[in-house]
Amino acid sequence: MNNNLLTLQKFEPEDENLLAEVTEGLQKLQKQLPCKLFYDERGSALFDQICELEEYYLTRTEMTIMNKYIDEISACLSKKCLLIELGSGSSKKIRLLLDHLEEPAGYVPVDISAEHLMKSVTTLAKDYPQLKIVPVCADYTQPLDLPYLNLPWSHKVIYYPGSSIGNFTPKEATTFLKLIARIADKTGGLLIGVDLKKERSVLEAAYNDKNGITAEFNLNILRRLNHELDADFDLAQWRHYAFYNSSEGRIEMHLTSLRNQYVHINNNEIFFKKGERILTEYSYKYTLEDFEQLVSDVFKVKHVWTDDDGKFSVQYLSVR
Ligand code: AVI
Repeated sequence: MNNNLLTLQKFEPEDENLLAEVTEGLQKLQKQLPCKLFYDERGSALFDQICELEEYYLTRTEMTIMNKYIDEISACLSKKCLLIELGSGSSKKIRLLLDHLEEPAGYVPVDISAEHLMKSVTTLAKDYPQLKIVPVCADYTQPLDLPYLNLPWSHKVIYYPGSSIGNFTPKEATTFLKLIARIADKTGGLLIGVDLKKERSVLEAAYNDKNGITAEFNLNILRRLNHELDADFDLAQWRHYAFYNSSEGRIEMHLTSLRNQYVHINNNEIFFKKGERILTEYSYKYTLEDFEQLVSDVFKVKHVWTDDDGKFSVQYLSVR
């Protein structure tokens, strides 16, 4: 173990919570499963593949923006910031910031998948031997008290790339932003990636790739329930379905039941009609004005960087 990589802090959810959450979601009129369930080890690896897809413009465009404006972005984050990345995954995006920031005081990657997290930070720690890294395994959508960090930071910057903010409903996003502002504190800020509204065809292609990776990613939720909660979903009887709901401004991902079927999870038996859908994810898209309005209670938009086609934005917000 490298000296600069500190012990993993674990706030992993218990299986019991998972079971309760899953059964509650599947008893609703519109059956649903929480999208955080996508990210077990296999799901996280599938998500990494999604990020490389031709149709999935989000990651590529965000990195183009970051690369183009990295000097301005680093200047904005300024010296000795403690970088806290939410949903750090493979910790790839952070490298560009680490290469340009002036004396970063430390890096706190927060991710729900312990295996994925440890794999990526071990490599990162070797590549950045001067950087103190404090990995935290947690569901960052829940209130989170970071461990006491004896590091020389002057302010905290939360890094939340990838437009994951879009996976919350606007109401949930507002609550979540308050939580982040509390972590960042008065002197801190938020560097965030936000996907923007655009033509339906571009949006729908991004969630219906021709190689079927997104479909695999969606179905992986059921595979996970089979493994972890001893459920008996027959994966061949479910189909990925994603579309843009323009009145709500969001992509919706569902799993459609291909026949009438019963599924067992623990001691519960759940019936699905042929054609019935389980909602697995929302991915909201914003205009710059919508987003400024969304954050306005707790954050002030300081800088916005976009690509030439206005597909995606990277924004720096300071706590109000
Ligand atoms: C993580 N999140 C921002 C992705 C999105 O685009 O909403 C998750 C995803 N779902 C399907 N493809 C990617």
